[in-house]
Amino acid sequence: MNTHKLLWITDLHLVEPGHPWPQHVDPLPRLHAVLNELRDQHEDADRLILTGDLVQSGSVQSYQVLRDVLQDFPIPWRLLVGNHDKRDNLREVFPRVPVTEGFLQFAEELDGTHLIYLDTQAETGHHGELCPARLAWLAAQLQRAGASPVLIFMHHPPVAIGMPPLDRLRLRDPDNAFSRLLRARAAPTQLLCGHLHRNVSGRWAGHPFTVLDSTHLPLRFDMVSDRLTRYPGAPTYGVILLDGDSVVINAVQQL
Ligand SMILES: [Fe+2]
Repeated sequence: MNTHKLLWITDLHLVEPGHPWPQHVDPLPRLHAVLNELRDQHEDADRLILTGDLVQSGSVQSYQVLRDVLQDFPIPWRLLVGNHDKRDNLREVFPRVPVTEGFLQFAEELDGTHLIYLDTQAETGHHGELCPARLAWLAAQLQRAGASPVLIFMHHPPVAIGMPPLDRLRLRDPDNAFSRLLRARAAPTQLLCGHLHRNVSGRWAGHPFTVLDSTHLPLRFDMVSDRLTRYPGAPTYGVILLDGDSVVINAVQQL
């Protein structure tokens, strides 16, 4: 079993040319700066994983911007959807993105580690959800992985972090169906999420989770206000090192 490196970015919030920038800050040069650094320093990586909110409006034109950015990136990339994405428009621009039962989710094995890409987009609203079809698919993937280590990439974290306006938008888990799947699993399992525009880590349902900050703007930590405030922090990316069942996740600010 060899060591492996995965690159990770999330919450790009790209817009098409002429569209107002989110929070008046152009997301594209920030993404370019990150990808240039990844290209310079990590050409040995096995994957680049993008955990959703790839674009701001979900328009076809905004996905074309992403396609142009990624088209000569030298490392195989994987796309997930977030609450800002639109599956149909994404698939129009990226027709080879794997789809399982209508959802943008699939799994692959990397030298004994199972990588699961989970679609947590809700039918309506900005929170996350997993319908019975997705839960059944996930259960089958976990069963297939058996005692092997698993990484589950997903946009919405299932946990409340103490910021009320974000906590309302987390992955909802009615009847604890998702947490029961995880609690039933003894083998090493790691959740990797976006959505919060903050770096957060901890444990949920018996397994560690990590939330990665955005390549766009970070959110200020505030447990009191009911409003979200962004600040002009540096774009962030993740460098994940795998060695057997060991996982190291570096959250890196592109300075
Ligand atoms: Fe999001």
